[in-house]
Amino acid sequence: MCGIIGIASNRPVSTNIINSLKKLEYRGYDSAGIATITDGYINEKKCSGRVDELQKILLKTPSNGNIGIGHVRWATHGIPSIVNAHPHSSDAVSVVHNGIIENSDEIKKNLETKNFKFKSQTDTEVITLLITEALNDSKPLEAVFKTLKKLKGSFALGIIFKNYENIIIGARRGSPLAVGYSNDENFLGSDSYALKSMTNKISYLDDGELCVLTKDNVEFFNQNKKKINKKIHLVSEDLNTSEKGNFKNFMSKEISEQPITAKKCVSEYVDKIKKDINIYNFPIKPSEINKIVLIGCGTAYHSCLVAKYWFEEITSIEAEIDVASEFRYRNLKLNEKNLYVFLSQSGETADTSAALDICKKNKVKTCAIVNVVESTIARNADWVLPIHAGPEIGVASTKAFLGQLIVLFILCLKLSFMRKDINKEFYNSKIDDLTKLPDEINKCLKSETNIQLMAKEFLDANGSMFLGRGFSYPIALEGALKLKELSYLHAEGYPAGEMKHGPLALIEDGLPVVVIAPKDKYFEKTLSNMQEVIARGGKIFFFTDNKKKSISENIRFGLRVPFLDNLFSPILLTVPLQLLAYHVALLKNCDIDKPRNLAKSVTVE
Ligand code: M6R
Repeated sequence: MCGIIGIASNRPVSTNIINSLKKLEYRGYDSAGIATITDGYINEKKCSGRVDELQKILLKTPSNGNIGIGHVRWATHGIPSIVNAHPHSSDAVSVVHNGIIENSDEIKKNLETKNFKFKSQTDTEVITLLITEALNDSKPLEAVFKTLKKLKGSFALGIIFKNYENIIIGARRGSPLAVGYSNDENFLGSDSYALKSMTNKISYLDDGELCVLTKDNVEFFNQNKKKINKKIHLVSEDLNTSEKGNFKNFMSKEISEQPITAKKCVSEYVDKIKKDINIYNFPIKPSEINKIVLIGCGTAYHSCLVAKYWFEEITSIEAEIDVASEFRYRNLKLNEKNLYVFLSQSGETADTSAALDICKKNKVKTCAIVNVVESTIARNADWVLPIHAGPEIGVASTKAFLGQLIVLFILCLKLSFMRKDINKEFYNSKIDDLTKLPDEINKCLKSETNIQLMAKEFLDANGSMFLGRGFSYPIALEGALKLKELSYLHAEGYPAGEMKHGPLALIEDGLPVVVIAPKDKYFEKTLSNMQEVIARGGKIFFFTDNKKKSISENIRFGLRVPFLDNLFSPILLTVPLQLLAYHVALLKNCDIDKPRNLAKSVTVE
């Protein structure tokens, strides 16, 4: 959730730290800070709010120093404020931290009995003071090892030392951390995205590992203090997708990129000529899979829900779904004949990663469907299916959701064919449809002008509802999630058939109700549910792919997307819902790429 950067160099580092923090701002933007070692002292500068504020401070009073750490914070312990911003420094040491120290209260009490004084309300400051205490009789590496032993919880750390002014120590348990290499500089970063502008050579720490960086050397240690070697990955510098170009924000860029995302994703998996899907090396023989269990959080969970409907529709495999934060704490009966599929754009979501670890410990087979192939979840799973969406920077997941849906559909189709649940003709026709998908998504984007008109109608509303049945139920949930996360307008997603069981009480004159009703077996049923809403004054926004002319004269706004096949309606109907949330947020002047209280990568539970 927070972002870490560290640079050891032979020239001043503060400008590059600020530039990297700007890239990391999508991970946390409550406050920011930097510490360098300048003339033998720790020089700490912090601000509440955005990195721009920090940059202004540095313009007035520059920070010199060839070694430094920086941080963007997403508050967990203590309100967003200057005093709670990282780094947290003592006279001897300065620390930036991602994660949560669960036993910080206990450690704090103990340190206070030894006269250590705390300045902030954060859990991080205990790390600073524990290392400070340990430095009384230990060198930095040993002091950090001693400290880590006392910590419970999750962390990625960057640490600099007043009296050892050429080293940065990094440590990881539970929160991601990467190291980047260059000729006369080395880097520490909470993800490779921030490092990519400085280097394409990157190593990833695993849990329990620690690294010591100087400007011309990097050493790694495992938790037993044994020196280890780490693989260096060459990562591609995907500049096109990392900059927002002429777009107002990353979200509008990422929505508009979806035809390209779909094309890339389909072409990675689909052989148009042979009419086949290139997915091999299933960790369980397809004919022997007993059940598919799909697990994710937020939008990724919604993609699991769509996939459940697909698996039930075209395969003989039972499909179960779970929210990762629930899955990880339940008394589960894991089965070696089940395939556990983890969905995550970032591949770093703490709950999803912990759920995967439980599966690993129980030796059941796992698959990761991720966007970031170097991520923890990808590295830990038995089998990885990348979505190839390119970096997604906007906090709201758009193109990654679409990519997840496409990969899930492709997986489902392949399994169905291999298990002989569908015939070759059906298989071929869906492969044809997949290749048409990018163009159809492009047509959906053309609805933007219409959506802009709809968006105005949400401005004075006190809330809104999104209704759908079948494949459209998860899409209703996703439409509602997008609207609330971006525009802060309450939005409730519901299966349309459930209205009578409670939510109908919420309908009042003028309440915006988005009805998602593609031409499928639920169409007429959804129309009946819609009439019940209309009868109580709900203002209907009707999203369909049905070409039928007169559906109801009481529909306030209607929008038609192209029809490809019932199975693809969740993909195509998602696009206008993303645009709706985007335009309501734009009209409300919300911070679209960085909605309040949220972060892109949820690395704490
Ligand atoms: O990186 P992940 O896909 O694991 O993230 C899961 C959720 O945190 C994420 O989808 C979240 O719900 C988005 N902000 C929704 O737009």
